[in-house]
Amino acid sequence: MNTKIGILYATVDGQTLKIANKIKEILVKKGNEVTLFSIEDFDGKISDYDKFIIGSSIRYGKHNAKIIEFINNHKRELDNIKNAFFSVNLVARKPERALPETNPYFIKFLKEIDWIPYRSCVFGGKLDYQKYRFIDRVLIQLIMWMTKGPTNSKTNIEYTDWDKVNQFSVLIHNM
Ligand SMILES: Cc1cc2nc3c(=O)[nH]c(=O)nc-3n(C[C@H](O)[C@H](O)[C@H](O)COP(=O)(O)O)c2cc1C
Repeated sequence: MNTKIGILYATVDGQTLKIANKIKEILVKKGNEVTLFSIEDFDGKISDYDKFIIGSSIRYGKHNAKIIEFINNHKRELDNIKNAFFSVNLVARKPERALPETNPYFIKFLKEIDWIPYRSCVFGGKLDYQKYRFIDRVLIQLIMWMTKGPTNSKTNIEYTDWDKVNQFSVLIHNM
């Protein structure tokens, strides 16, 4: 029988979804049965799956509030099966901030959530100033300036390390 894997994601500009889709593609190729859900329309049961993966991007220092709520409300069910969590943010573009142990958002997340994912990963996100509202663009430019990143408003860079996405998918397959 195929291993049933659920992937629940929260995205705003699509990068977390792109990563979730890549994980799904790799896991399907390895023979798993994978279903992808947005946090907006998940109405299934965690116990219907053998493994459950959750992914969220960071906006202004925080993971998606509905994802946090979901984890808080389903801790016991999550702990009953193999699970994994991944975070997508721009601080992780720096190698020294790209591990769960070194990424400030992931560290804060673990302190707040009272849940320890069985496997976890942090991915660099996408920086595309042209897509952002004026106020967001200015604030992200400020954050980038403070952290020595690109500030040119035409910048469009994908920092996601796809080899790392591949390695994480293999880890999920093997867990
Ligand atoms: C309004 C806004 C706020 C953001 N805040 C942060 C932040 O505080 N720290 C960070 O590392 N990245 C931040 N980012 C970068 C996003 O995490 C990154 O663009 C990610 O790829 C977004 O993923 P998504 O498209 O799945 O939402 C922010 C992006 C936007 C547009």
